[in-house]
Amino acid sequence: MVRKIGVLTSGGDSPGMNAAIRAVTRVALNNGIEVCGIHDGYRGLLDGSFEMLTRTSVSDSLSRGGTLLGSARLPEFREEEIQNKCIANLKQSGIDALVVIGGDGSYRGALALTKKGINCIGLPGTIDNDIPGTDFTIGFDTALHTCVECVDKLRDTSSSHHRCSIVEVMGNHCGDLALYTAISCGAEMVITPETGYDELEVLEKLRYLADAVRKKHAIVIISEKITDVDALAKKVSQNTGFSGRATVLGHIQRGGSPTPTDRMLASRMGEKAVDLLMEGIGGQCVGIIDNEITSMPIDEALGRPRQNRKRLYRLFDRLI
Ligand code: F6P
Repeated sequence: MVRKIGVLTSGGDSPGMNAAIRAVTRVALNNGIEVCGIHDGYRGLLDGSFEMLTRTSVSDSLSRGGTLLGSARLPEFREEEIQNKCIANLKQSGIDALVVIGGDGSYRGALALTKKGINCIGLPGTIDNDIPGTDFTIGFDTALHTCVECVDKLRDTSSSHHRCSIVEVMGNHCGDLALYTAISCGAEMVITPETGYDELEVLEKLRYLADAVRKKHAIVIISEKITDVDALAKKVSQNTGFSGRATVLGHIQRGGSPTPTDRMLASRMGEKAVDLLMEGIGGQCVGIIDNEITSMPIDEALGRPRQNRKRLYRLFDRLI
């Protein structure tokens, strides 16, 4: 029987993490289970930095971005000795199960702890939408809203000045944030890890848009970690009829009040995590598939390929 659940947020923060912490806390307390918040991800687990959560500790958190527990990345958590120290800290505090909210690295930590006897459930918290086993991650929708708002603004000025705006968005190695932004904003071009990148082809396309199509402006959405967007913007100015300007949206994408979609997702997933732990299940991650909340073993999810976006790329091409 579970008496005390720990909850932590790990990796890059994402809007909606607080809604997930709140759901875990409230659902657990309503079932007579105590909840312990762990500060700064696995770092707090290692340092024993814990705080008991009450109904009121999670009040007014639904609308707040970031994570009230703090987050961190702890690469050393892969080491068995560190994991054993964390297990000892959990046992000493009477925590017999854990909810880990984060990305795939956090899931691996959750699996390792489950194998060592502490049931853990993973919730997908990241703006990148790069976790297998779920259609959407907590925070993706809010980040998408932020990107769309920014690109809509850039479009105004870029159209006034006959410019090409090259907008770099986050996503780590996943193109979802770029692709969804590009479709939602009617961009002229999208470049992601999935599309690949050919600089000459990009310049050629922009020349065509400026000279043949006589476009007043062009928006190029590009995923991070592909190329130096400032250098690309210079080449656009030198080689096409547009004047190029680069904008890196950066960490602004990680902040802000979560959208209702993210609040709902986080609340539903948090509830599911507690239900699984009450059933004595660990080593699983929660997802949303076809709008149903589901769960599957973490190792199965991590072994799955990411979602195929061919149809959305085709849609993008057909909308140009
Ligand atoms: O995983 C979320 C994310 O924002 C990625 O999109 C990005 O590559 C990375 O984190 C940035 O990490 P940091 O905040 O450590 O610079």
